[in-house]
Amino acid sequence: MFVLTQLITALGKATGCLTVAVVVIAAVLNYFEDAEPIKYTSMTEDMKTLEENFRQQNKSCFILGASGETGKVLLQELLGRRIFSKITLIGRRALTFEDKAYEKVVQEVVDFEKLDDYAAAFQGHDVGYCCLGTTRAKAGAEGYIRVDHDYVLKSAELAKSGGCTQFHLVTAKRAHKESNFLYLKVKGQVEADVEALGFDRLAIYRPGFLLVDKQKSRPGEWLARKFFGALFAVGSKSMSIPIQMVAKAMVSNTLLQPEQKTEILENQAIASLGK
Ligand SMILES: NC(=O)c1ccc[n+]([C@@H]2O[C@H](COP(=O)([O-])OP(=O)(O)OC[C@H]3O[C@@H](n4cnc5c(N)ncnc54)[C@H](OP(=O)(O)O)[C@@H]3O)[C@@H](O)[C@H]2O)c1
Repeated sequence: MFVLTQLITALGKATGCLTVAVVVIAAVLNYFEDAEPIKYTSMTEDMKTLEENFRQQNKSCFILGASGETGKVLLQELLGRRIFSKITLIGRRALTFEDKAYEKVVQEVVDFEKLDDYAAAFQGHDVGYCCLGTTRAKAGAEGYIRVDHDYVLKSAELAKSGGCTQFHLVTAKRAHKESNFLYLKVKGQVEADVEALGFDRLAIYRPGFLLVDKQKSRPGEWLARKFFGALFAVGSKSMSIPIQMVAKAMVSNTLLQPEQKTEILENQAIASLGK
């Protein structure tokens, strides 16, 4: 009984310390929050009206990476808000959906190593969303560059040639082509190269740690999610973000008219648009 009481007291103290640590870290991070979110000319309009106006234009879109965490939620959000008359998933494998809501979703299976042979899959879409990505741990340094830079850029090129005018690209917080870190350097480089293609509109999303509800995860991943989740909950909106907010922000942003041709949405801007 004594040991149990001691254990409970120790756990209580540990939780208390962790809470204090999270609050202190959040306060420090808030001080260094992202720059002012970008402004939109149409932000004052009601979102429902914007959705209705957009819907009447019968536009089509494609998603790269719809089998991934972000892409999956983005697809749900797009289906729920019904702003496109046609949604195409472009990926390396066909996906199976049970729900009736997915029955009209078109799928194009491509070989990303031979994308030129699949140019037709990229033709005729008005808007493109890219949530493609891997990690150095999964694919090695070369594989990471191949997927997160080469596949993304080639897809964007084909989409642009195929008539796509609006491209939404998910990269990552602190992406910079001059970064010393491969992960951030590749993300920054792909941002710059896609921008050079000259889409009428390019939206770049730079989320921090993505908060996802996963049934199974490695202990390190679980711990990171708890930590960043707690930070987000106590008000630090610059380090992490629930994945649903990213998806919602991407869809809402599609309806808006930014003042600039290329916009960069840092984590905080994504969070405020994705509320
Ligand atoms: N996770 C984070 O905390 C975090 C934070 C900031 C930014 N990001 C960035 O946000 C984006 C989305 O992240 P996420 O966590 O949603 O990614 P994810 O769940 O790992 O999904 C990645 C997608 O890319 C596809 N993909 C991976 N390797 C491929 C390959 N060799 N060939 C073709 N397709 C391939 C996957 O297809 P399969 O299903 O077929 O594998 C999947 O659809 C990524 O660019 C990521 O770098 C992530």
